[in-house]
Amino acid sequence: MITINENYLKLQASYLFSNIAKRVSVFQQAHPEKDIIRLGIGDVTRALPAACISAFHKAVDEMGTDSSFRGYGPEQGYGFLREAIAKHDFQARGAEIASDEIFISDGAKCDTGNIQELFTQDTRVAIPDPVYPVYLDTNVMAGRTGDFVDGRYQGLVYLDSTKANNFVPALPTEDVDLIYLCFPNNPTGSTITKEELSEWVKYAKEKKALILFDAAYEAFIRDESLPHSIYEIEGAREVAIEFRSFSKSAGFTGTRCAYTVVPKECAAFDSQSNRQLIHPLWNRRHCTKFNGVSYPVQRAAEAIYSEEGQAQTKELIASYMHNADLIRQEMATLGYDFVGGENAPYIWIDAKIDSWEFFDMLLNKAGVVCTPGAGFGKCGEGYIRLSAFNSLANVEKALARIRETLK
Ligand code: MLT
Repeated sequence: MITINENYLKLQASYLFSNIAKRVSVFQQAHPEKDIIRLGIGDVTRALPAACISAFHKAVDEMGTDSSFRGYGPEQGYGFLREAIAKHDFQARGAEIASDEIFISDGAKCDTGNIQELFTQDTRVAIPDPVYPVYLDTNVMAGRTGDFVDGRYQGLVYLDSTKANNFVPALPTEDVDLIYLCFPNNPTGSTITKEELSEWVKYAKEKKALILFDAAYEAFIRDESLPHSIYEIEGAREVAIEFRSFSKSAGFTGTRCAYTVVPKECAAFDSQSNRQLIHPLWNRRHCTKFNGVSYPVQRAAEAIYSEEGQAQTKELIASYMHNADLIRQEMATLGYDFVGGENAPYIWIDAKIDSWEFFDMLLNKAGVVCTPGAGFGKCGEGYIRLSAFNSLANVEKALARIRETLK
């Protein structure tokens, strides 16, 4: 008899963004005349940078001729992309990361979800609340939690991110082994200083723990003093893995390309307390379960680092951040408390009422989709998240409708 992994039965009925999409679709069917503006899931709306498109076309043409055709590529990614990343994203900022410490993948969602496979089931996991649901759900699937009771899974250490701590969680008071951090944060848009991040690195070293640092939104940082990478912090190479993505920074949500950095010194421990390097293990997993990102997509990603690519992505990011500024201004005028939107494309707003109630109100009255904070965890109750990813015209239209609804 085939038996099911019962951990899946502990999961909430559906993934947050699928649940929202379903609700929006039901609403749309009932009101086909309504024009809906989506400021919910952080999905980009603007075209890929011209430099990426031309590199993409060129690479597709190469695939059309036997002499330049490419079959399976290296599972870890082509050297041309890994080298460009190491140079521009790390070495240029004083973070010593080598190209062979970078693993190209098809998304930070997959990488942040898959990485936990390397660790034992009794790993004590610390997860922020509110949180990007992938970190949580994948640990539930792996059996590292008990049941979902009163809005939380038993057996996990939740790191509350609230107004009281400026949405940057404090170090856990109990010992943990695996720590998920995301800065600039999804969903709150909050940021972490170098000093605060150094405390986490220090903690991980002392406790022999590992930090999984999701930096998918680093390109949106405008405050020069903030760290873009955890490897800007001394000692982080031994205790941190970092995840990055081209989804939001260069419009690759539909094109799919991201990467994970596993420094050679980064280690976990075996049952005899011997240090075991993570790099060869992640490499082993990657080679076994993944066949690489397509050649044209990697060429398109490489073009982000060209001079034109850099200028074009900068303009793209600035346009979304202009939307974020408009959202912040409007919510301030309407008298709502919020964080984020300064160094991140998300604005986390105190809804003053139940977050799903606010979601329904905005959808029904304004035809605007937001993300209810409760979907990101217990501490998200009473908040909603607005995303800056849309056209300026749509954001302006959405804000006019929100003003009309909330005033
Ligand atoms: C979000 O809206 O939180 C993100 O777009 C989800 C993701 O990146 O998978």
